[in-house]
Amino acid sequence: MLNEKTILLIIGGGIAAFKSLDLIRRLREEGARVVPVLTKAAEEFVTPLSVSGLAAEKVYRDLFDLTDEAEMGHIELSRAADLVVVSPATADLLGKMAGGLANDLASTLLMATDKPVLVAPAMNVRMWEHPACQRNVAQLKQDGVLFVGPEEGTMACGEFGPGRLSETPDIIAAIRAALTEGPLKGKHILVTSGPTHEPIDPVRYIANRSSGAQGTAIAKALRDLGADVSFVTGPADVPPPRGVRVIRVETAREMKEAVEAALPAEAAVFAAAVADWRVTSESGSKIKKTQGKLPVLEFSENPDILAGVSQRTEGRPRLVVGFAAETDDVIAHATAKRKRKGCDWIVANDVSPATGIMGGVENAVTLITERGADEWPRMSKDEVARQLAYRIADHLSGN
Ligand code: C5P
Repeated sequence: MLNEKTILLIIGGGIAAFKSLDLIRRLREEGARVVPVLTKAAEEFVTPLSVSGLAAEKVYRDLFDLTDEAEMGHIELSRAADLVVVSPATADLLGKMAGGLANDLASTLLMATDKPVLVAPAMNVRMWEHPACQRNVAQLKQDGVLFVGPEEGTMACGEFGPGRLSETPDIIAAIRAALTEGPLKGKHILVTSGPTHEPIDPVRYIANRSSGAQGTAIAKALRDLGADVSFVTGPADVPPPRGVRVIRVETAREMKEAVEAALPAEAAVFAAAVADWRVTSESGSKIKKTQGKLPVLEFSENPDILAGVSQRTEGRPRLVVGFAAETDDVIAHATAKRKRKGCDWIVANDVSPATGIMGGVENAVTLITERGADEWPRMSKDEVARQLAYRIADHLSGN
C-alpha cells in the first residue's frame, strides 16, 4: 500500500498520456495522494478537468500562474511530495532533464526537487534509440534518476520496438520500490532464473524441468527489501516479478551474455537451471524423419556462467550465490561444488523425484558457506527466498 504517500505526477505530452488517468486512479486506490502537473503538450492529449477530477486535486499547469505561486510556490510544490513521477516521459522532457533546462513548470519542478525522480519513458522507437536520447538516458541514470521501461511492443505509430510506456501495474511496482526503505535500498543485485532451451533445429530443443519459481521468488524478496534487481530469465513457467529489470533469454550462451552486460552488481544469485550441454551444430532447417535412419546429435559443453563470474579478478560481485540441485549426497556434492566453482555460498537442495521440489511450491535447502552447512527446515519457496534475501542483506551490510 502507498498510504500517506504523496506523488507529484508530471504528465508529458505523448499519445500514452491517456494512460496516466488509469495510473492516477490505481495510485489513489492504493491510498496515495497524487498531485498532477500537466505540460502544455500533455493538454493536447488529456484534459486538465479529467486529470483533476480523478486525482481530486488541483492540476498545476503554468509556471507563471500567480494564483499557484500565491498558494504554493514551485519550489515548495517540488518538495511537498515523497516521489516525483514523470509518466509518460517524452524525449523532450528527458532532454530537458538531462540538459538542466527549466523553462516551464514541469522542467522547473524537476530541477528544483530534492526528492527521488522516477521516469516512465514513452516515445517512437527511433526516437528512443536515437543517440541523443540514449545519451540523455545514460546521463540521467548517472544522476540517479530511476527508470521504469520503456517496453518493447507495437506502438500507436505502427512501428515495433522499445518505446512503449510500461503497464500501469509495472509503474506502480516501480513507485513502490522507489519508496521502499529496505536494507538493500540502492543495491544492484543480479538474479538468474528458469531453464535454458538449447535448440536442435528451428522447432526442437533440449530443456529441463525448472519452473523458475525459486528464482522468481528470490528476485521478489530482494526487490521487497529495496534492491534494484536485474532478472535474467530463461523460458520459465511462472511470470517474472514486477518492479525488476527483466532480461529474457533462451540459451545458456545468451544467458552468459546478458549476465555480463548486467554487471557490475553487489551480489549475484544464480538460480537458473542452465543446460550443461548444447547441440554442437544446430540445424538451420527442421530435421526430417527418414525411414530407418535416426539422427545423431553431437553435444558441446555450455559455458559455466556461475564459475565465470565467481572467478573474475575484476568486477566480481561481493557476494556470489550458486545453487546445487542434487539427487544424492547433497551436502558433500554441494560443498565440493562451492570450491570448484569459486562462489561464496551454495544453496543446496535435494531434487530427487520423491521430494516433489522440482516444479513444486516447497523447498528444503541447506545453505553452504565458508563456515559450513546450515540445514533449513522444509518451507515454501517464497519463505526460502525471504530468508535468503535477509541473509544477503546482512552480508552486504557487513554483519
Ligand atoms: O554444475 P551445476 O549445474 O550443478 O551448478 C549449478 C549452479 O551453477 C547453479 O547456480 C546454476 O545457476 C549455475 N550454472 C551456471 N552455468 C552453467 C551451469 C550451471 O551458471 N552452465
